Amino acid sequence: MISMDTLVSLCKRRGFVFQSSEIYGGTGSCWDYGPLGVELKNKIKRVWWRDFVQQRSDMVGLDASILMHSMVWKASGHVDHFTDPMVDCRECRHRFRADQLEETPWVHYCPATKGNKFTIPAGEACTHCGAPRTLCPDCGKGELTPPRQFNLMFKTFMGPVEEDAAVTYLRPETAQGIFVNFENVQQSMRRKLPFGIGQIGKAFRNEITPGNFIFRTREFEQMEIEYFVNPHDTVEGRPADEHWHDRWIEDCLAWFQRYGLQAENLRLHEHERGELAHYSKRTADLQYRFPIGWSELMGIANRTDFDLKQHAKFSGKTLTYFDEERKEHVVPYVIEPSAGVDRALLAFLADAYREEEVRGEKRVVLRFHPELAPVSVAVLPLLKKRDDIVRTAHAIRDELSRHFTAVYDDTAAIGRLYRRQDEVGTPYCVTVDVQTVGDTDRGEPADGKVTIRDRDSMEQIRVPASRLVAVFGDLLGGERWADVAAQTGRG
Ligand code: GAP
Repeated sequence: MISMDTLVSLCKRRGFVFQSSEIYGGTGSCWDYGPLGVELKNKIKRVWWRDFVQQRSDMVGLDASILMHSMVWKASGHVDHFTDPMVDCRECRHRFRADQLEETPWVHYCPATKGNKFTIPAGEACTHCGAPRTLCPDCGKGELTPPRQFNLMFKTFMGPVEEDAAVTYLRPETAQGIFVNFENVQQSMRRKLPFGIGQIGKAFRNEITPGNFIFRTREFEQMEIEYFVNPHDTVEGRPADEHWHDRWIEDCLAWFQRYGLQAENLRLHEHERGELAHYSKRTADLQYRFPIGWSELMGIANRTDFDLKQHAKFSGKTLTYFDEERKEHVVPYVIEPSAGVDRALLAFLADAYREEEVRGEKRVVLRFHPELAPVSVAVLPLLKKRDDIVRTAHAIRDELSRHFTAVYDDTAAIGRLYRRQDEVGTPYCVTVDVQTVGDTDRGEPADGKVTIRDRDSMEQIRVPASRLVAVFGDLLGGERWADVAAQTGRG
């Protein structure tokens, strides 16, 4: 598994992710997606939307606003309960989550060794003096304040006057935008239970200890589904909410595997009773083996009727569904598959990374699923001094870019260009050479064919340039390289 440091440096070097406001010294908690990062992120969101919203007849989409009525956050419980316990160092003023102190290595000036400074692994005592950590883990000198609850929502003011009545929050999850629109969507789209609403959008949390690159940040993006079911229904002899909860867990697991995460790097974590959020009947996290260890990739919760009932209570509106068969009003139960786009991107990157040996040389390759790769096709001229080759290569890139993400590159020799594309995970390269355009001086006619190179097998086939759009349509639409190569003939 790739280390986080290697990943961070690859991401910066190759234009995936930059530190936000880097020229001002950067922020530790926000990141900017560069030219390749934004392509990867957009593709993750696009396939998620296609697979979970567009293609399912029981799903619709929504794009709710980030700023909402402040009562939303009172009703949802975020104002009173969305907190973490926090302690401050009285000396260096650094702030820590009280519940994570024991997982942090600590700095210690050991009295048994004339005050020498040591960094002691998390949870361990000093091997010289036997003392456990009591002071600040960062500076090793300051006392820590008693824990107090810190609300993770970013506060702001709606309108020009900074007064209490104008206080609102940047949404800490996209979910609430779906709950408050339940009736609008159900009625305007005439939906029957079960049905779901999907949404992709930014969320903000003033995390006390953000970190681990894009794993935990203060501004991030979520892909969330609220799937509404009738709690009085049964499916295959089981309560409908329990049936659908299992179905969504299976579907989410299968989705991440379909786009490249290896099964051995994914596992389910069932929340114990004490770990469950106050609204949840059952929550299962999908965990991924990140470079920092097994951690949550997404959560799939059964939120029962908690949210709709809370919003009904605080808004005074009835948020129910009329069950025509039973002639009764019910408050739907909600299954919530909630994934972070940034965490998904980090997992896809980490899983795709390989170091291979090819003819005695190291090859770094990102084996992205072809549909996720930031660049789908790179068009490369074999000789950049030949105008006709360069012109043809540009024309091919222009044509391909109407259908796929395609780039042109002539800034190095061909071997180097291939390696660069491998390192950013481009599944296919197209090379234009002398045979493609012909050589009039030597009386060699143009054959109009180009070479396609497959990233994973490094095999090459020669195909007419006029067939490229169709061939890449097949390859990027899921056909195997071996099958396409067999039809076309290896070069
Ligand atoms: N609506 C439910 C909800 O928001 P959550 O477990 O707090 O549940 C869902 O968040 C997902 O959002 C997480 O599994 C993770 O992928 C992502 N996420 C949450 N906090 C994050 C943060 N600070 N930085 C990056 N991603 C985060």
